[in-house]
Amino acid sequence: MATNKTFTMIKPDAVEAGNIGAITKMIEEAGFTIKAMKLTKLSSERAGEFYEVHKERPFYNDLCAYMSSGAIVPMILEKENAIEDFRALIGATNPQDAAEGTIRNLFAKSIEANAIHGSDSDENAGIEGSFFFAGTEKF
Ligand code: CMP
Repeated sequence: MATNKTFTMIKPDAVEAGNIGAITKMIEEAGFTIKAMKLTKLSSERAGEFYEVHKERPFYNDLCAYMSSGAIVPMILEKENAIEDFRALIGATNPQDAAEGTIRNLFAKSIEANAIHGSDSDENAGIEGSFFFAGTEKF
């Protein structure tokens, strides 16, 4: 059953560029409610754990180095049809393919430094949200 929740994280390139405010504004204006949020940083080991599913991919080591290179902003978001609507809001993984006006179209630098993550299923949203927010107060 759909949970109406998704997980996102603003990635180091977008935090570094000073785009936390612009991106969270777009998220809220698109109708999502922020249920949990923090500014944090991953060690390369924790980044490796988060992206375990991509372990066999050629870009895995670079991705872990990049994702642990600076601060990130993980969030749990709520909205009806959250997974699908959020993926539409952020656009394609490769910013060159991201539709005009999407977050990645506006803020991503490359396929790796692509500004923001969005969960691809209810199951992964639960796993990814717990990765950052297990044990913290839920609103
Ligand atoms: P995301 O979909 O949030 O999670 C997996 C990440 O891997 C993806 O964003 C990109 O940051 C990165 N990624 C995906 N495909 C490639 C690729 N071909 N080259 C480099 N990085 C990639």
